[in-house]
Amino acid sequence: MPLRPAPAPPRRLRNQVALVTGASRGIGLAIARALAAEHCNLILTGRDQSALNKVSRELASAKIKILAHSCDLRDPHSVDHLFRAIRGEFKHLDILINNAGIAHANLTVDNLPLPLWQDVIDTNLTGTFLVTQAALPIMKRGSTIVNNLSIAASRVFTGSAAYIASKHGALGLTNTLREELRPKGIRVIALMPGATDTAIWNTFWPQAPRKKMMSSATIAAVVVNAILLPPNATVETLEILPTAGIL
Ligand SMILES: NC(=O)c1ccc[n+]([C@@H]2O[C@H](COP(=O)([O-])OP(=O)(O)OC[C@H]3O[C@@H](n4cnc5c(N)ncnc54)[C@H](OP(=O)(O)O)[C@@H]3O)[C@@H](O)[C@H]2O)c1
Repeated sequence: MPLRPAPAPPRRLRNQVALVTGASRGIGLAIARALAAEHCNLILTGRDQSALNKVSRELASAKIKILAHSCDLRDPHSVDHLFRAIRGEFKHLDILINNAGIAHANLTVDNLPLPLWQDVIDTNLTGTFLVTQAALPIMKRGSTIVNNLSIAASRVFTGSAAYIASKHGALGLTNTLREELRPKGIRVIALMPGATDTAIWNTFWPQAPRKKMMSSATIAAVVVNAILLPPNATVETLEILPTAGIL
């Protein structure tokens, strides 16, 4: 039988531009890889510039335009700086992946220090707000915003009050944003994964059963498929759980 040439790689997001926060590792890195595979141009952000440079080098073979720019999304000036760089390189944003987030040590409310509470709320909730507010002026009809929340946005786990509160709050922000952007034709997706095997688990449950968890690549594949829906259709909530159930 004659050898057939390998099928051409998918390039369904060619010429589009996506910003991925928390792109240095975990779910954000997996989403960046999946978008690069679709030929989407990327802005990669996180606090660690050298980690972002490493991801940028890895994705260079995709022959896309990549801006790797560090940003601490708890800081409005840092977010402002990031968006000045984005506007310098790209004229608009088609896809915003609000993914960056932190968890905290397993502590009941009576033992949770205020600085830890504030850090988690500032990162997961206020950071999402700041990045979204900065992105909206350069997003037009047909764009997509994906907010990586968690099943912790709709359920509770003891010992994680700041994380749970930040994610419940971010779900409220996401649901409000969706209604505000509906007339503008911008889709807003609440991504609500269950346990996914990333470094975040070291913070609050280092011995968690990793083998039962989903991979970041699985989450990324679902996200890209949702983005690829025709602009007049959307998946408003993406709840993805390990088959083994909630850990
Ligand atoms: N893993 C799970 O089971 C799971 C399940 C549901 C939802 N999630 C959500 O998925 C998102 C990603 O988590 P992950 O599991 O992939 O964790 P991860 O591997 O620890 O990645 C977190 C990312 O966020 C970035 N980040 C943290 N603080 C930041 C800040 N202040 N400014 C900018 N970037 C910051 C980190 O980069 P730097 O440290 O370099 O800044 C890193 O790239 C989080 O929002 C998390 O709540 C995770």
